Amino acid sequence: MEQQKQQFAISKYLDAGEVTRQLDELIKLPIYSIKPSALKEYEDEYFGKKCTKSKAMIDEAIDIIPGGVQHNLAFNHPFPLAFNKAEGAYLYDVDGNKYYDFLQAGGPIVLGSNPKVVREKVIELLEICGPSTGLFHEYEYKLAKKICDSMESVEMFRMMGSGTEACMGAIRVARLATKNKRILKMGGAYHGWSDQLAYGIRIPGSKWTQASGVPKKMFKYTDEFFPNDLNDLEKKLKRNSMKGGTAAVFLETIGPESGTRPVDYNFPKGVQELCRKYGALLICDEVVSGFRIGMSGAQGYFGISPDLTIFGKVIAGGYPGAGGLGGKREYMKYLSSGIGGEAKHPKALVGGTMAAAPISCVAGYYTICEIEKSGAIPRAGQFADKLIDGVNKLIDKYSLPFVAFNQGSICHLDTTGAMHFAINWSKPWGIPEVLKQTSARKQEMEHMGAAYMAEGIVTLAGSRLYTSGAYDDSMLDDILGRFDKIFANVEEIK
Ligand SMILES: Cc1ncc(COP(=O)(O)O)c(C=O)c1O
Repeated sequence: MEQQKQQFAISKYLDAGEVTRQLDELIKLPIYSIKPSALKEYEDEYFGKKCTKSKAMIDEAIDIIPGGVQHNLAFNHPFPLAFNKAEGAYLYDVDGNKYYDFLQAGGPIVLGSNPKVVREKVIELLEICGPSTGLFHEYEYKLAKKICDSMESVEMFRMMGSGTEACMGAIRVARLATKNKRILKMGGAYHGWSDQLAYGIRIPGSKWTQASGVPKKMFKYTDEFFPNDLNDLEKKLKRNSMKGGTAAVFLETIGPESGTRPVDYNFPKGVQELCRKYGALLICDEVVSGFRIGMSGAQGYFGISPDLTIFGKVIAGGYPGAGGLGGKREYMKYLSSGIGGEAKHPKALVGGTMAAAPISCVAGYYTICEIEKSGAIPRAGQFADKLIDGVNKLIDKYSLPFVAFNQGSICHLDTTGAMHFAINWSKPWGIPEVLKQTSARKQEMEHMGAAYMAEGIVTLAGSRLYTSGAYDDSMLDDILGRFDKIFANVEEIK
């Protein structure tokens, strides 16, 4: 058993209750952030003087690209930087500045950036057949087989263009399989940006309010339950059973927004039991956790067997076309498109010209093989343990209210608690206050992100850090030294 645990990125499961208590505390306190004079110095001396090529590029781009960049997770304060080199644990911007990369392209880079073993296979493929053919390719099978061999619940697999698309497909399959329409998701969780799942985004209880551009009617069959609350889930399942039943429960297994709000170790198992009791399919979203928490995913770590699993990011190894849906044969049959496509049962409408393109499949296959062979999952997790331990010592050193924790190689450094608010509809007059607070805290989160960036640390939105197999202990003191310098300049923001 102990040996088996070593295969996972998580060495010891966190105390979710204690982390939640600390986060509850954090949002009651005034905001602590980089002091305005230090931020101004970063803006003038670093961004103003050392990032001039980025600035010139973004000034032109903003004219034709809305906001100047096309990634929601790009840094905007004081302006986004342009990067043109990525290697292992490092990123380089167009001005030649070097950074530790804790964004990892938003999650896919479990091996570190641009590993030679994968790149060489991609180049080999490009020389022979180019990136796509629109027809079956050997690596389409090899990748599907590797994924099915790694995760027990995944008996069949279908590649799609993105995690968002896989979530959309999963809803259709679940509805066809159960003949029910209703979908439940955990408040705050992100399952891509499709209409029906743009519900309860970021803030639990926020319902449709964060889904600008989506008609409210789209959410007729979508509801959310409070994270880590089995009673609330059962209440919603019961309510749905009086209206015909629930087709599926979507679960980000480690907690919403990649565990920003961590759940108890037994929570996923509890969700599975309730799904079985009420006849709903359990859909685990492993877009971030798959091949990062373990070769068998977060589902392997928590000992659950979902009916369907959503894949994304790492399954194309950082190359385009990263999405897929896997699961039990009896449900996956609704996706058959080739032989058996005209079967007796109806077929879920899914598609994608570039889905399962050879370039995505070759990259994904060799990435997953190398993750397994090199032990990148536990190595990235162990590095993250040391990083968070060091960051917590610095938090104590400067008596800051910050909360830092990790689930394997997924680290959270919550300085403002911007992601920890929830909306209580029994007190709807509190909603404007929640939105005001989260917006002020998010702005300071961005200021912290700018300080990290200026000290050579790229994070995800100034509050999340992914580690990879490319990190090693020799980098630790240098990284922690940079955090030390930043934290020394933090004060209460008035
Ligand atoms: C848990 C989770 N599910 C789904 C998605 C959507 O994936 P994609 O960006 O590939 O559409 C994401 C993206 O970050 C995610 O984190």
